[in-house]
Amino acid sequence: MIILDLGCGTGTLTILIKQSQPTADVVGFDGDPQVLEIARAKAAQENVNLTFDQGMAYQLPYPDNSFDRVFSSLVLHHLTTQDRRRALEQVYRVLKPGGEFWIIDFGKPHNALAFVISLVMRNLERTSDLIAGLLPEQLRRAGFEQVEQRERFMTLFGTIALYRARKAEL
Ligand SMILES: C[S@@+](CC[C@H](N)C(=O)[O-])C[C@H]1O[C@@H](n2cnc3c(N)ncnc32)[C@H](O)[C@@H]1O
Repeated sequence: MIILDLGCGTGTLTILIKQSQPTADVVGFDGDPQVLEIARAKAAQENVNLTFDQGMAYQLPYPDNSFDRVFSSLVLHHLTTQDRRRALEQVYRVLKPGGEFWIIDFGKPHNALAFVISLVMRNLERTSDLIAGLLPEQLRRAGFEQVEQRERFMTLFGTIALYRARKAEL
């Protein structure tokens, strides 16, 4: 498999993916050159062979149909609604037919405490769409199908949700 970790930060998840799937080609991608330097150093220390590329999530420098899986952990809430739309379209473009996009990020509050926390978090402009539960619809609009919320977790910042979306087979 060829796997992209979109917004990989310092590479914690990227390294874990490679360690759990040693035969996969794993690429970490982030907009910040400084975190990528840290990610490269961590990968070298862990003795795992990874590629790290720099660029913006809404302008991916990869050909169409390149990846079997794309993962994105706590990145989409950094994007404006418009940039998120472009990023979702880019992920759809670079996924192979039948490929999957797995996302973990803010979700709709699922209990009373999460709702109270969301009263603060939803004031952050870039987080509000996600807390309103709009991400599944944004994924469908980008072309994805079988969009599902697979899990949700209670955290200090409120509800964090795990989503999976698929690009149709040819
Ligand atoms: C909260 S960190 C998450 C890092 C990692 N995925 C994790 O879960 O530990 C968010 C990351 O998204 C990256 N990021 C934010 N906006 C981006 C964009 N438009 N394009 C690429 N990376 C972006 C940041 O540089 C940062 O490394």
